[in-house]
Amino acid sequence: MVRKTRLPIFPDDYLEDKAEEYDNSKWMERNQKRTTSLSIQYLFDDRLNFNNTPEIQLGDSFIFLDLGCGSGYSSEILIKNGYRVVGIDILHDMLLKAREKKRHLKSFKGLELILADINNLPIRAKCIDHIISISSYNFIIHGLKNYGEKVKLLGDTGKYLNNILKKNGRIVIEFYPKDDSELKIFNKSFINNGFEGFMIKSNPKQKSGQTFLLLKKKL
Ligand SMILES: C[S@@+](CC[C@H](N)C(=O)[O-])C[C@H]1O[C@@H](n2cnc3c(N)ncnc32)[C@H](O)[C@@H]1O
Repeated sequence: MVRKTRLPIFPDDYLEDKAEEYDNSKWMERNQKRTTSLSIQYLFDDRLNFNNTPEIQLGDSFIFLDLGCGSGYSSEILIKNGYRVVGIDILHDMLLKAREKKRHLKSFKGLELILADINNLPIRAKCIDHIISISSYNFIIHGLKNYGEKVKLLGDTGKYLNNILKKNGRIVIEFYPKDDSELKIFNKSFINNGFEGFMIKSNPKQKSGQTFLLLKKKL
C-alpha cells in the first residue's frame, strides 16, 4: 500500500496488485480528487490573466488532456465539471482500472483513454484546449540519470505540449520535484518553449515536494 508518508515508486507502486490497491484506496481517491478540483481553480486563476490574455470561462465545454490519468480519479472530476477528457497513461494495469470504470459507470462515458507515454503523445497539433497532470509528471524522467538527457527530454515534451494546445491553451501540473534543481529544469522546459506562468508551493520556502505549475501558451 502506498503510504501517505513516502512518495510512490514508479512503476512498482502501480503494477498488478498495487494498481488494484491504488484504485481501492479511499484516501488516494479523496486526495486525487481534491487536488484535481484545486487544479481546475488554478487553471482559471485571475493571476494568469496578464499580458492581455483573454479571460477563459469556467463553463466552456473544453477538451482536456489528463496526463498520467491512472485509474481515472482526476478525469472523473474534469468530466463532472462538464469537460471532455482524453486520459493518457503509460501503464496498462492502471489504464485497465479507468477502462473498467468507463465500461460500468455513466459518469465516465465522456472519457477517451489512450495507452501512451507523455513524452511520445499520439495527438494532432492544436486540438486540445487545456491540459492537467496530477501527481504524474515527475515520473516522465524516470530512468534518466544524466542531467543533459533530462533537460533534452523535458524540453522536447514541453515543445510538443505547446504544439498540441489551441490558442489560449493552459496547463496545470501538480507534481513532486525531488529538489530545487529538478524543479528548475521542469519549469524551464515550459518557459523556454512558448509558455508563461508561475508556480505555487504549499510552503514558499520548500525546495522539494508538492508544487503546482500554472502555465499558459504565449500569444
Ligand atoms: C499517481 S498516479 C495517477 C494519478 C491520477 N491523477 C489519478 O487520478 O489516478 C501516476 C500515474 O502516472 C503514470 N505515468 C508515469 N509516467 C508516465 C508517462 N511517461 N506517460 C504516461 N503516464 C505516466 C503512471 O502510470 C501512473 O498511473
